[in-house]
Amino acid sequence: MSANKKLLVLPGDGVGPEVMRETLRVIDWFAKHRAVAFEVGERLVGGASIDRHGVPITEEAMEEALGADAVLLGAVGGPKWDNLPFDKKPERGLLRLRKDLGLFANIRPAHVFDALVDASTLKPDIVRGLDLVIVRELIGGVYFGTPRGIETLPDGQRRAVNTQVYTTSEIQRIARVAFDLARLRGRKVCSVEKANVMESGVLWREEVQKMRDAEYKDIELSHMYADNCAMQLVRNPKQFDVIVTDNLFGDLLSDCAAMLTGSLGMLPSASLGAADARGARKALYEPVHGSAPDIAGKGVVNPLATMLSYAMLLRYSLGLADDAALIEKAAANVLAAGTRTADIMTPGATKVSTTAMADAVLAELDRLAA
Ligand code: IPM
Ligand code: MG
Repeated sequence: MSANKKLLVLPGDGVGPEVMRETLRVIDWFAKHRAVAFEVGERLVGGASIDRHGVPITEEAMEEALGADAVLLGAVGGPKWDNLPFDKKPERGLLRLRKDLGLFANIRPAHVFDALVDASTLKPDIVRGLDLVIVRELIGGVYFGTPRGIETLPDGQRRAVNTQVYTTSEIQRIARVAFDLARLRGRKVCSVEKANVMESGVLWREEVQKMRDAEYKDIELSHMYADNCAMQLVRNPKQFDVIVTDNLFGDLLSDCAAMLTGSLGMLPSASLGAADARGARKALYEPVHGSAPDIAGKGVVNPLATMLSYAMLLRYSLGLADDAALIEKAAANVLAAGTRTADIMTPGATKVSTTAMADAVLAELDRLAA
């Protein structure tokens, strides 16, 4: 593969630099053994960027992100920056990346590795073999809607406003991603909103159904209220194949789905923009877990979600499905051998550090490639 592909690495805050350091070793491994070579750039984002440059992401970093073939991000945020005004918070760096790169489609697969069935807080039978995907709308809805803000009223009270807003085209483009994905999987889509109380939910439901009836008759479409979906995810998650939902519900439901897999530390994600004339999409890959300030710097964080995010990068941005599968296989084998970070520890397994988990994955990659 050509080396002129550009990858921008943004380690960020908290455990971000730790998981990224180990994932860079995997990236190196692929450069050496599989000729998957990138020009790798690295920049600050989030609190780290605030501390150095005074802003959650610099214009230079934004420019590099816009010019990159793919961005790999660790995590942003932490208690140190919690009291900053909204537009200065670490999270704004991530939200700006998503918005300015036009990454409207967030793909969050929740797949339970056989070896981790016992690491889930749910009964083994409920999660064994689980394989669902949440397709979350990422640059609309209440995260970005206006008006927004906090004002002081004449009587001295304060009043806060956020706006949940969706247009037909925003709903259609995310629904299309979900339907296309379902065609490659179980051909089932569950569309999730609160049409019982929100107009944005009514429009969402109508548009998704219209698209199904017009273009995706081969897909079985169901609709579910978001509260019920949260409940169904812990009651019987295997009923789902692809879930498509808005930005805020997708945020909540994907944490919930992540936990079914045993740990937030296992879940990768891809955020994709629209395909350009050459079929290329802007893309950002990141673990679903956050910056986890409570365990940052201790060398105990699970690096697998970031490594699996790199696998998604190989699959979606470079079309290297075999290489992606190689990482997934290596991770599965390492877990099957009983190697565990603290978050997925089960009785009888071997508890290892972040670095030792990466050592194990690299050794397994060597073995699989031999
Ligand atoms: C996520 C995170 C982000 C979000 C935060 C860090 C802004 O929770 O990616 O799920 O709310 O989207
Ligand atoms: Mg979240």
